Amino acid sequence: MNKSNNTILITGGTSGIGLELGKTFLKNKNKVILLGRNERKLNQLKEQGFETLQCDLSDRAEIEATVLKIQVRYPDLNILFNNAGIQHNYYFSDTVIPIDKISEEIEINITGQMIFTQLLIPILADKEKSFIINTTSGLAYFPKSDGLVYSATKAAMQNFSKGLKYGLKNTGIKVIEFIPPVTETGMTAKREEQKMPASELVRKVLPQLLKEKQVVTIFRIRMLKWIAFSMPGLAHKILSK
Ligand SMILES: NC(=O)c1ccc[n+]([C@@H]2O[C@H](COP(=O)([O-])OP(=O)(O)OC[C@H]3O[C@@H](n4cnc5c(N)ncnc54)[C@H](OP(=O)(O)O)[C@@H]3O)[C@@H](O)[C@H]2O)c1
Repeated sequence: MNKSNNTILITGGTSGIGLELGKTFLKNKNKVILLGRNERKLNQLKEQGFETLQCDLSDRAEIEATVLKIQVRYPDLNILFNNAGIQHNYYFSDTVIPIDKISEEIEINITGQMIFTQLLIPILADKEKSFIINTTSGLAYFPKSDGLVYSATKAAMQNFSKGLKYGLKNTGIKVIEFIPPVTETGMTAKREEQKMPASELVRKVLPQLLKEKQVVTIFRIRMLKWIAFSMPGLAHKILSK
């Protein structure tokens, strides 16, 4: 992957990991399009040199309208970073589980991303080389008890990424899975465990992205994968802390 001169669309680019990636890509002389729902944040980011798109990925009509805008404004798009995501925390042992939250997590973390990806493949496929990068989670390897639906959505996106890689093998599109560790963002604000600053994460993973590694992550996550496979009980203990 070239360091500069790409046109990169990052969903979930208005905060956290997506914004930090966007800042780094912009500094490296790429055209960076940040997508999110929050109009106020998007306007502020436009003043900092980003292109912006307002879109709610849980709304199919908005996704389709946004893809039409991309076709007209950004025909040079060559990197799609599917990074938007939400997480709700609740236990399935609770008497009342928030049904709306279950469907919202699935709609944003899976359905919206898959539809968006499908509609953008023609634009990416007309390049000699392009990329789809999907942000998943270590929880795709082993679920945490208070985030079963979130973990399941990330496992779905992990499997989708694997399949897409082979499904697109006759095109110039490469598929990469990006797996952040627990990172200091709005999503983890209420959690007390050790978190990696988003800037440190981006610094660590950028060289792997440039090398086009199939799975881009840090050592701790590779260990979790191994523990989840060989000692699921220990994985459960680690993730329940
Ligand atoms: N933080 C962690 O520890 C961690 C660990 C592993 C994986 N991840 C994954 O990393 C990705 C980024 O998370 P983060 O930690 O940076 O969280 P964050 O700071 O809360 O950012 C989430 C982003 O998703 C966007 N978003 C949420 N719902 C959306 C919707 N319906 N349509 C469009 N955009 C939407 C938000 O923008 P608006 O509010 O403007 O819509 C925001 O930019 C997520 O996929 C998350 O699952 C995070």
